[in-house]
Amino acid sequence: MDRFDVSGRTAIITGASSGLGRRFAEVLHDAGANVVIAARRIEKLHELASHLPRSRAVGCDVTRHDDRVALVAEAREAFGSIDILVNNAGVSGPVVPSEVQAWEQWENTLAVNLSGLFGITQLVARHMLDQGKGSIINVASIFGLVGSAPVLDSAYVAAKGAVVNLTRGLGAEWADRGVRVNAIAPGWFPSEMTDHMVDNERSQRYIARSCPMGRMGHEDELDGALLFFASDASSFCTGQTLAIDGGWTAI
Ligand SMILES: NC(=O)c1ccc[n+]([C@@H]2O[C@H](COP(=O)([O-])OP(=O)(O)OC[C@H]3O[C@@H](n4cnc5c(N)ncnc54)[C@H](OP(=O)(O)O)[C@@H]3O)[C@@H](O)[C@H]2O)c1
Repeated sequence: MDRFDVSGRTAIITGASSGLGRRFAEVLHDAGANVVIAARRIEKLHELASHLPRSRAVGCDVTRHDDRVALVAEAREAFGSIDILVNNAGVSGPVVPSEVQAWEQWENTLAVNLSGLFGITQLVARHMLDQGKGSIINVASIFGLVGSAPVLDSAYVAAKGAVVNLTRGLGAEWADRGVRVNAIAPGWFPSEMTDHMVDNERSQRYIARSCPMGRMGHEDELDGALLFFASDASSFCTGQTLAIDGGWTAI
């Protein structure tokens, strides 16, 4: 199990104020890492940080250059190095046909899910390349691998598809300099983003029909993939996207 050890390493997790990001922060912290938790809602981050002794909460809107620079500077100031970056911040919806999707929705979804992700990656990668080591984990989606109809959100599909291919591109680019870039593509998991689906009969029927396992993921079912990519257990793995989706993308 030593290969999965991340103790003493420092991880930045974006979008850690709720949902999957909050869980990622807790799991990496439990596995021994220092965690820098970032999002816009600082009060939620402070609440999370109160349970995590080796943490620093940083208010950050990933679409803002100055916030990204400040986040990376605060992480280095707090813990010295940055060894793991989990690019998890994301938005989706509202669900609308593409021909009437508002331009603002397109721009905001791309700004958060793709440009913000790349902006932070660039800053963190400079530091990781200097230290000759680091693991970057992008949170993509099954909708970066397949289309999303009947859940109509072309901006989300475009952004997540780009994240999957950006993961390949950066993984190959930095492979011989010690920095690995991989992605997790979750199926449906409970979070603020999917809250409206959890007790909705129509949504649950759609999931039961489309997912071979017939259900949403459980809160702990991304933990293994996260720790695999974050740690030396995946030392020969880069540019890859692992779908954790109950078989959604297998059919
Ligand atoms: N849940 C699923 O079924 C599922 C499936 C596939 C992929 N994903 C992906 O998983 C990631 C996490 O989503 P979630 O399901 O956990 O939803 P969530 O509970 O809504 O979490 C989204 C997080 O992103 C943060 N965020 C949004 N805009 C931001 C911005 N401009 N700057 C900084 N942080 C921002 C939010 O924090 P603030 O509002 O505090 O800024 C929040 O912490 C997303 O990338 C999502 O696309 C989720």
